Amino acid sequence: MAAGSPPPPPPPPPHFVLVPLVAQGHIIPLVDLARLLAARGARATVVTTPLNVDRLRGVAEQAARAGLPLEFVGLPFPPAGSGLPQDCQNADMVADNSQFLPFFFALRELAGPFDAYVRSLAPRPSCIISDWCSPWTAGVASSLGIPRLFFHGPSCFFALCEIMAVDHGLLELIAAAGDDERHLVPGMPVPVTVTKATPPGLFCYPGTELLRREAMEAMRTADGAVLNTFSDLEAQFLEGYEAALGKPVWALGPLSLCNRDEDSTTSRGKTAVDGKQAIMAWLDEQAPGSVVYVSFGSVARKLPKQLFEIGHGLEDSGRSFLWVVKEREAAAPEVREWLDALEARTAGRGLVVRGWAPQLAVLSHRAVGGFVTHCGWNSVLESIAHGVPVVTWPHFSDQFLNERLVVDVLGVGVPVGVASPVMIFDDESAPVARGDIARAVSALMGGGAEADERRRKAKEYGEKARRAMEEGGSSYENLTRLIQSFTRSED
Ligand code: UDX
Repeated sequence: MAAGSPPPPPPPPPHFVLVPLVAQGHIIPLVDLARLLAARGARATVVTTPLNVDRLRGVAEQAARAGLPLEFVGLPFPPAGSGLPQDCQNADMVADNSQFLPFFFALRELAGPFDAYVRSLAPRPSCIISDWCSPWTAGVASSLGIPRLFFHGPSCFFALCEIMAVDHGLLELIAAAGDDERHLVPGMPVPVTVTKATPPGLFCYPGTELLRREAMEAMRTADGAVLNTFSDLEAQFLEGYEAALGKPVWALGPLSLCNRDEDSTTSRGKTAVDGKQAIMAWLDEQAPGSVVYVSFGSVARKLPKQLFEIGHGLEDSGRSFLWVVKEREAAAPEVREWLDALEARTAGRGLVVRGWAPQLAVLSHRAVGGFVTHCGWNSVLESIAHGVPVVTWPHFSDQFLNERLVVDVLGVGVPVGVASPVMIFDDESAPVARGDIARAVSALMGGGAEADERRRKAKEYGEKARRAMEEGGSSYENLTRLIQSFTRSED
């Protein structure tokens, strides 16, 4: 540079295009990541469906007010001829099990509109970060020469089990095995066994073989992986996963500690805000650590008889509880009446939320001492990040292995112990026993050395989680390096 000439302008911020699977449990963490990227100097665009753009309007408005370069784009969905109703633009809008596979297959049709959208951008994005369940982004990225990372939403423990299972032909072995046969997952740093009912993969159900092949292929051809976890929680599995993948793995979590504004990221708008005030006021009345929070994520739906068993289990536990029942589950008059009667019987110590709870606000309230969860990874990590131990009751996909991590490796969970294979929507055959729930809740919330040790460990992980996300912490610094590695130098 000649003496006296002005310094070169700083390089333009990198532009990340993020493509979540269109399901709340996948959108929430990727929107958190997009917000973090924008807050840390990058530009972020979340590509989803029009319904989700509408649901996320509050986040967009908030970002605009704060001057953050965060925007949302909706691609047309569902495609003509899919047979899906027009409003079926998110997994929580899928009516029943019969729509589940058509919904997943219709998502592949987004490749065309996505290709057109990315081609319309000038300059081209610096990087595409797409959900591992959205492999249709891979062809677009490679044809345009854009680097692509895949976002793997579950625990790294699950991710490593999955890749080991695929590499060692375990999925085929399990498919041909008897129902009760247990198989050891090869190559894991700790012993892990799986069965046909608790397989080490998301797409392990009949009819999903093509989706699995596409997802695995897109993972192999990506430039790296982004995970919602942190190194103090899963160091040995992160190391194993990076080695197995042969690509960089960026642990950036817990993403929920990004100051998410829950009122605008939920889909229920005003209802959630009204509910929040009543919920927080009720929690304020409860003794510290006395309430067990009960919620099963955004997808799984239960039949009335299953809800009644859960309700009886909570009542029989004798503990205070805050239980989220989905709007659709609570819609039937007999369920509404039954829940009202339960609240009357447990007056003062039982609150049933019908719809959507502000989960982070609940988990961070001093009254909450435990969480009965289906082991969706967001819920598990959010609980750990707030130092709250859990009762584990996995329903499907990654949740069985998330349970193993929480109970066997981290020591912060009590299993319900109900063998409940695929329980996504209204599954008649899924067993639920009030006695199992009451026993697990009592063990979690009660006294004694084991319960105290679980609480101590959960608190310790909660502190480590916070440190990971602070300046100088492992996840914070990983995000810094990620942004730097996609910042183009001007020379
Ligand atoms: C899905 C899969 O089911 C799960 O196995 C996978 O690990 C992630 O994607 P989901 O079943 O919705 O997720 O559960 P979870 O991962 O726990 O995500 C639910 C999210 O919704 C959490 O971030 C939770 O905080 C939020 N939530 C849920 C609320 O804010 N309020 C509610 O009432 C319910």
